[in-house]
Amino acid sequence: MNDVQKRAWEAYSGRWLVERDQLSPARAGHAADPAVPDSPPVEIDQMTLFGRVAPLVIEIGPGMGDATAAMASARPEINLLAIEVYKPGIAQTFSHLARLGVTNVRVLRADAAEVMRNVVIPDSLAELWLFFPDPWRKRKHHKRRIVTPEFADLVASRLQSGGSWYLATDWEDYARQMLRVVSACESLSNPYAASGGWAPRAPFRPETRFEKRGLGAERAIFDLHLVRR
Ligand SMILES: C[S@@+](CC[C@H](N)C(=O)[O-])C[C@H]1O[C@@H](n2cnc3c(N)ncnc32)[C@H](O)[C@@H]1O
Repeated sequence: MNDVQKRAWEAYSGRWLVERDQLSPARAGHAADPAVPDSPPVEIDQMTLFGRVAPLVIEIGPGMGDATAAMASARPEINLLAIEVYKPGIAQTFSHLARLGVTNVRVLRADAAEVMRNVVIPDSLAELWLFFPDPWRKRKHHKRRIVTPEFADLVASRLQSGGSWYLATDWEDYARQMLRVVSACESLSNPYAASGGWAPRAPFRPETRFEKRGLGAERAIFDLHLVRR
């Protein structure tokens, strides 16, 4: 981390960072443990985390958090749990949250797919956001891409009926892979299926940092919006 990020981490982690065992404190010690494959997922305790119960939204990979802060600020009615593995990005996210005075976000440093599998209970999320996930461009690395049939099934199972999964990418082959995968998932419906499957930009999503990079390199942006049946 650079000095600014170190300072932001020190100043703000007490305000916005949550630890994995804080997600469900009532079951701390009994919470799902990735080392114990069959331990049951437990409900996220929104009162303890956010001080209120509200539609729960998870964002996977906020990156530097500029768009995350703007989106949470524009959607004060939601509780947003942003899950990111990259510590400097989390520190930068804190700076953006502080700049906008955002109160409805908590940030968890973890592998989001693992948290989705082992912590988030079925039928509990109002929305899942996955904006510009790592594209893993080389063919030999495609298997590292997060959007797979198994992941789509996992997301669908964690969304409430009528809940939304928003995705975007600037890599056309990944976009087509996403569309194929979500179209094959029987628990998800695509409101835009009749017009090719691509959605308009989510109304609350500003241009993200990685989207700007893609646009700068003259790549097209592909959005998807799926609804849990
Ligand atoms: C290409 S960046 C996009 C950042 C941001 N959404 C944007 O559009 O500017 C992808 C981000 O996802 C994070 N990431 C990748 N895999 C992850 C995982 N399994 N759990 C949490 N974060 C992850 C990376 O660290 C990175 O910050």
